[in-house]
Amino acid sequence: MSVAAAHPNLALVKYWGKADAARNLPATPSLGVSLDALSSRVEVWLDTGDSVEIDGRSVDPARYRPFLAAVRRRCGTQSGFRIRARNDFPSAAGLASSSSGFAALASACTAACGARLGDAELSALARLGSASAARAVFGGFAVLPAGAEHAQPLAPAAAWPELRVVIAVVTAAAKPIGSREAMERVRRTSPAYDGWVRDSPRLYEEAVAAVRDRDLTRLGGAMRKSYHRMFATMLAADPPIRYWLPETLALLAAVEELRAQGVAAWETMDAGPQVKVVCADGDTGRVAAALAAACPGARAPVISAVGAGVRRAG
Ligand code: PMV
Repeated sequence: MSVAAAHPNLALVKYWGKADAARNLPATPSLGVSLDALSSRVEVWLDTGDSVEIDGRSVDPARYRPFLAAVRRRCGTQSGFRIRARNDFPSAAGLASSSSGFAALASACTAACGARLGDAELSALARLGSASAARAVFGGFAVLPAGAEHAQPLAPAAAWPELRVVIAVVTAAAKPIGSREAMERVRRTSPAYDGWVRDSPRLYEEAVAAVRDRDLTRLGGAMRKSYHRMFATMLAADPPIRYWLPETLALLAAVEELRAQGVAAWETMDAGPQVKVVCADGDTGRVAAALAAACPGARAPVISAVGAGVRRAG
């Protein structure tokens, strides 16, 4: 058995849309951060066929086929894989479980075959499962340029040690439509898609410079534009895609109110209703309290530091 673990990689500037669907290459450049407080752990055994179990439930291995076929090609094996994954947070709910899951899976599967891959190759393999997983191979801050085969490290966790992400989980329910299908519908039907793809590199450059300078206000401004414009492409799709819930809006208003009071707190969202707020460690108490007050029925917000990259765990 081989075991690997990874943290989800939260996009601060979003990948949304594919330049090449068959090769799963991103149409937009993205920048993400590893979330230390959340983890996926994957165990892999060589077997006669492929089977996948996530959090104790059997799932259809179809989604995993192109990824597993690439692992077999790379490792020169015909073997199947028995996969058992566990997330210590809700799966498929907009908390980037596919990023940590496929990063850990790429590491555990190749290790089970006795292959030793460098980070770039591991990242390219993980990308075939989920493009955000290409970033999750790396710790700290990582980037995935448009059209790129693999992600690259931008800055280690230690480069911005006081940065925190406060995560408000509105609902643990799985999202109504997966990101792959949503991206494809947006590409086919949303008149906002071309503008989004054209505009994304500018936001990306802005965010990369802000991370290098540890400038939270500048990073926050780019983050806010990135997720709003991503959702604009979805609202303009036919039929429209809407991940937001009433609680989501209450949380967004609470973060805006914090900023009006002078707290440097900047939110982002992914394909789901959850809200993640980036702030400095000294402000996490205030941010968590404001989020809890805005969404009284929800579980307590999770506070995360910047995490490490994928690691072998056995
Ligand atoms: O990697 P996927 O297919 O799960 O898509 C991820 C899309 C977003 O989470 C919305 C953005 C991102 O860059 O992670």
